[in-house]
Amino acid sequence: MADKIRKELPETPLRLALTIPGILHVEKSPSQIDAANALDSFKVNALGPLLLMKHLSPFLPTKSASGFPISEGNLQLPSHAIYAMMAARVGSISDNASGGWYSYRASKASVYQIAKTFDLYLRGRCTERAIAVALHPGTVKTDFTKEFWKGRDLLEPLDAADRLLRVIAGLRPDVDGGRGRCWDWKGKEVLP
Ligand SMILES: NC(=O)c1ccc[n+]([C@@H]2O[C@H](COP(=O)([O-])OP(=O)(O)OC[C@H]3O[C@@H](n4cnc5c(N)ncnc54)[C@H](OP(=O)(O)O)[C@@H]3O)[C@@H](O)[C@H]2O)c1
Repeated sequence: MADKIRKELPETPLRLALTIPGILHVEKSPSQIDAANALDSFKVNALGPLLLMKHLSPFLPTKSASGFPISEGNLQLPSHAIYAMMAARVGSISDNASGGWYSYRASKASVYQIAKTFDLYLRGRCTERAIAVALHPGTVKTDFTKEFWKGRDLLEPLDAADRLLRVIAGLRPDVDGGRGRCWDWKGKEVLP
């Protein structure tokens, strides 16, 4: 993918990246943990964003690049690049009140760490030209949650996407502007 981008868009810096992969193998108790399924969860949920970050990071603007023009229209993208990776609230250790879903929780917890660590790298390489964050989309009506639709208030996928985009477009690249942290669809921080 990176080779193809480099070939087709050699001079174009990456302005907005959203890496989304996520799967859930439900485990209610330790006895339900299956090694192959757990490995699958870690591969898709943790290694996936890690390798996407590896191959996409060279496309982000460096500190000497000029800022992007502020976009017009309904969604105003800022002048810096945004690299966002999908975490999940259940990956938050401090928010964990109900347990279960061991592999999903553990693999998604790593996304908070990857986003923070990547953002620290970008602070040096890109300064205020690029930020990294993690995201929680809310509980969204997708195939992913199909088993849990009944009796729940769910966000429509387009609504969740729209709200997340507005939240990340509003973050600033300075140290206190929200970079390196996890944000939900309401613009509230989800602590790791
Ligand atoms: N829905 C929710 O309520 C909710 C809540 C919290 C967090 N999330 C997170 O939000 C993200 C999107 O979830 P969703 O609800 O939109 O579910 P979804 O429709 O099942 O989307 C899952 C995503 O993961 C990708 N994926 C799955 N297996 C993969 C693999 N082996 N290799 C590469 N990519 C793979 C899929 O790619 P393809 O489309 O190419 O198959 C798809 O983009 C996930 O990271 C999920 O953990 C969702």
